[in-house]
Amino acid sequence: MSDEEIREEERVDVAVETSDVAIRVRGLRNSFGSQTVHDDLDLDVRKGEILGVVGGSGTGKSVLMRSIIGLQTPEQGEIHVFGESMIGRLDDEALAVRKRWGVLFQGGALFSTLTVAENVEVPIREYYPNINPRLRDEIAAYKIRMTGLPAEAAPKYPAELSGGMKKRAGLARALALDPDLLFLDEPTAGLDPIGAAAFDDQTRSLQRTLGLTVFLITHDLDTLYSICDRVAVLADKRVIAVGTIDELLATDHPWIQEYFNGPRGRAATAAVTREKGRQQQGAPHAPDGRQ
Ligand SMILES: Nc1ncnc2c1ncn2[C@@H]1O[C@H](COP(=O)(O)OP(=O)(O)OP(=O)(O)O)[C@@H](O)[C@H]1O
Ligand SMILES: [Mg+2]
Repeated sequence: MSDEEIREEERVDVAVETSDVAIRVRGLRNSFGSQTVHDDLDLDVRKGEILGVVGGSGTGKSVLMRSIIGLQTPEQGEIHVFGESMIGRLDDEALAVRKRWGVLFQGGALFSTLTVAENVEVPIREYYPNINPRLRDEIAAYKIRMTGLPAEAAPKYPAELSGGMKKRAGLARALALDPDLLFLDEPTAGLDPIGAAAFDDQTRSLQRTLGLTVFLITHDLDTLYSICDRVAVLADKRVIAVGTIDELLATDHPWIQEYFNGPRGRAATAAVTREKGRQQQGAPHAPDGRQ
């Protein structure tokens, strides 16, 4: 790395250390042709929290994530990550910040012609092309273990993995560069409840041990209840509310009431309440392993 790149990394180190807000979005507007997806959308993600992002299908959750990570250029608005403006900056310019995040895309998006280990190595090769190959292999093996995958998964191709293993492989790739910020787009979609609960537990435990900020798009009510510190609700082209689930329930927006107070929402609340009661009595966890 050049001296200038090192100085830039050090500057971003300080920004990550000192900012209270990991992501700040203001006045965001995105359209595709005549379809406006976001209009005047504001959102803050606090450093160190797991923020759940919910909203009906097609409300623009993935587009919001893509805007933040620079894959979608908004028509209007400002996006800051750890205080660094992300709009209108070339990939090279914001490199020091880009290295601070890892992304698990909706559907996993693993490269099908690469093994799990090679997939995990992709960001390492991209950002640290001169790294010693043996060290690169070791980092990949370590990240694979960290996500709870067995070492035997490393040489397998995505087609040889179960859905849950694919998600973990995607998570290992997202963690490849030791991120401060993790983006997860529907990480538990398509998993059975036990696999989903195990993935949630893994996310929470990684978030705590690594001090991560997590931007977590999900439809999974169990995930929202069990691991999210706050939840942001996308509707009407903006974030209509953000807060704890109790705070959201205190609003009278019909979509929020329907979502959290519908039959599935009530079931998730009941499950969490039961589990909390069990934990207070010191009884073992429910068979599905939810904390
Ligand atoms: N590249 C694109 N070109 C045109 N339209 C797009 C593009 N990407 C997204 N859209 C549209 O923007 C809207 C929001 O899409 P997005 O993928 O963000 O939805 P979502 O909230 O993530 O939905 P889901 O919960 O189903 O994943 C949709 O109507 C989609 O068709
Ligand atoms: Mg989506």
